[in-house]
Amino acid sequence: MLVTFYLNDVEVTYNVRPGEYLAESLRNHGVKSVKVGCNESTCGSCTLLVDGKPMMSCSLLTASIEGKHIITIEGIQEEAAKISTYFAKQGADQCGFCNVGFALVIYALKKEYKDPTTEEIKNYIVGNLCRCSGLQSHLKAIKAYLKGE
Ligand code: FES
Ligand code: FES
Repeated sequence: MLVTFYLNDVEVTYNVRPGEYLAESLRNHGVKSVKVGCNESTCGSCTLLVDGKPMMSCSLLTASIEGKHIITIEGIQEEAAKISTYFAKQGADQCGFCNVGFALVIYALKKEYKDPTTEEIKNYIVGNLCRCSGLQSHLKAIKAYLKGE
């Protein structure tokens, strides 16, 4: 089946299987920045933005995104580079596998909240896990990034 959507503001049409999930479709079309960890909606490494909202692409049917706007890390390169600097400063950047998903969710958080509390940040990133470092270094990095410190 054909599905047409916007990938980082460019209209694309993919030919996919009816039950195919977006992470697989994107990777099959060369978008290897989409990382698949658990493949069952529990780690957040496959996060991308769908009409501005973070979603896990390993459990999102490609057929459901007809006409929607998808943003991957390629669509926020400048912000992602900034976020990774903050992560590196706080030691939150180790193997790097979770970074793409975190960058996208933090980007969305910044757009949605002006001055989020620690609880709001925790709730927002609850679906994104890092197997290398604890949550504290991520929280420090996110707070510093949001404040531009
Ligand atoms: S790979 Fe999608 S949530 Fe883990
Ligand atoms: S830095 Fe390794 S999973 Fe997060």
